[in-house]
Parts: sequence; C-alpha cells; structure tokens
Amino acid sequence: MSSVIQMPEQTVGERISGRDVEAIRNLVYDRFGINLTEQKKTLVVGRLQKVLRERNFSTFRAYFDWLINDKTGEGLDELANRISTNHTFFNREKAHFEYFAKTVLPAAVARREAAGDIGLRIWCAGCSSGQEPYTLMMLMKEYFGDRFSKWKPMLLATDISATALRTAMTGEYEADAVQQLPPAMCNRYFAKTANGQLRVTGEVRQNIVYRRHNLMDAKFPFKKQFDVIFCRNVMIYFDRDTRNTLVAKYYQHTVPGGHLFIGHSETLGRDETPWEYVMPAVYIKND
Ligand SMILES: C[S@@+](CC[C@H](N)C(=O)[O-])C[C@H]1O[C@@H](n2cnc3c(N)ncnc32)[C@H](O)[C@@H]1O
Repeated sequence: MSSVIQMPEQTVGERISGRDVEAIRNLVYDRFGINLTEQKKTLVVGRLQKVLRERNFSTFRAYFDWLINDKTGEGLDELANRISTNHTFFNREKAHFEYFAKTVLPAAVARREAAGDIGLRIWCAGCSSGQEPYTLMMLMKEYFGDRFSKWKPMLLATDISATALRTAMTGEYEADAVQQLPPAMCNRYFAKTANGQLRVTGEVRQNIVYRRHNLMDAKFPFKKQFDVIFCRNVMIYFDRDTRNTLVAKYYQHTVPGGHLFIGHSETLGRDETPWEYVMPAVYIKND
C-alpha cells in the first residue's frame, strides 16, 4: 500500500471535484484499507460535503490539508466514522452463531481443558455498534451457565469507528432491534430503560473489552493467540491483497484448531490462504 498521498490541485469551494475524490480515495485506502469503488463516489461526495460545511471549510483543499496534518487524529477519526458502513444487527447470519455455540465453543473448551489453560480468547474484529459481540457473549453465558465465572472467556471487540464503539459500550438499542434474538435471551439479557429502549444487562456488557483498533496497523498488539476470530462484513470493503494480508495475520494470531468467521458475501481464495474451509464463511487453522 502506498504511503504517498496525492494532494488535490483543484480547490472549488464546497464542490468536490473528481481529483478531490481521488485524493480522498487514496487516503482512505492508505489509512483504513477501505477500497471506495466508483459506485460509492456519490455517497462519499455527499458525506464529505457535509463534513466541510460542519467544520466551516470553504475549500476541499483546506479540509484535506487539515486532515493530513492534524496530530490529534480527530480528523481521521471523523473520516473513518463518515466513510465506514456500520450496518449490523443481533444474531446476524444466524447459522454462524449456531455453529459457534454447538461446535466451535465446545471444541475450544475441550482443547483448553486438555491443555490445562482456561484462558479462552475470542476477538470480534470490526464489531461496529456491538450487536455481534453481545450476541456472542449471551451465547457464551447460556453455554457456560454456572461455569461462566470459572471460565470467564475474554471477548475483545474492536472497530475503527469511535462513534460505533460508543454505542457498543453503552449497549442501548431500540426495542425492535432484538427481534432476531430468541425471546428467552431478550428477557434474560436486556432491561428496559426509562426512555423505552433496551439495554444489555451489566453482566453481559462488563465481560466485553471494547477497543479502538485499525486492522491496517502493521502489527497487532496481542501477545496471546485467539481461539476464535470473527471478522464478518468488514473485508467486503478491502481489496484482495489487503484481505489476504489480513487473514494471514489472523492465522498467526489464532491457536491451532482455532476458527475464523467471515461474512457470507466474502470469500477466501483456496490457494491464497492457509485457512481451511469448514462451511460457508467459516475456516479452521489445521496445523
Ligand atoms: C458492516 S460493519 C460489520 C459489523 C459486524 N461485524 C457484522 O457483521 O454485523 C463493518 C465494520 O468494520 C469496521 N471497519 C472498516 N474498516 C476497518 C479497519 N480498517 N479497522 C477496523 N475496523 C474497520 C467499520 O467501522 C464497521 O463498523
């Protein structure tokens, strides 16, 4: 990935030219790995024009200059929030959660037990506003029951978007957001708030570690490997090379026998990665 960012030559007030869009596309690819396709152009222009207005920049060049020189990281943070698509929901791609609860989790527990190490570790990479890690934690609560406090699985949930993470940490959702979950789980793990929303109970929230993390960072800051990595509907925005580099890093950071879940619309080339196919969008590290 190139680290050279082309400055746009044209300044046209709030109107953003093709060259401006190209400069932003390079920056977004360079920093976040997100490949903004031609089709996304209108969307990006709309979102950026709004940022320019809100921040009182009269030209795109002024905004771009501020963005790449801003040491606080605030500008890039905001750009990540505006550019990224955070769509998610509870129990999304339900077959994955069923497979996780019935097969992957028991296998991971048996493996850890045999090794005399109960430090189960799960990473939800690109967790958006929290529905995916909360679904996982509720399933683990159900699975472990009384043994939960003994096992206390570590669930790390990361995203590049600070806005999405804020919602995740609060754990408050519209009442109809839980429709995809079994009613028994809704009753057990949500409480009504004064303003009629539903909030994930403390016992579920407290067991998830939320962190801001950019998957494009050269090195992952984790010493221990994970039993399971969920990275679903994130790589859809990455090109093939970026995706292959990332799943190779996931491989290094997964225990032998561990699993990787990706989104159903994403694929890994059989000859391009060491991950072995298990079922649609689920892979295993077999060595
Ligand atoms: C469509 S959501 C998917 C949420 C959830 N995994 C699911 O499947 O429902 C994609 C998420 O990936 C995050 N993302 C995109 N690029 C990223 C990057 N370079 N590093 C970390 N997160 C990123 C976005 O902020 C967004 O929240």
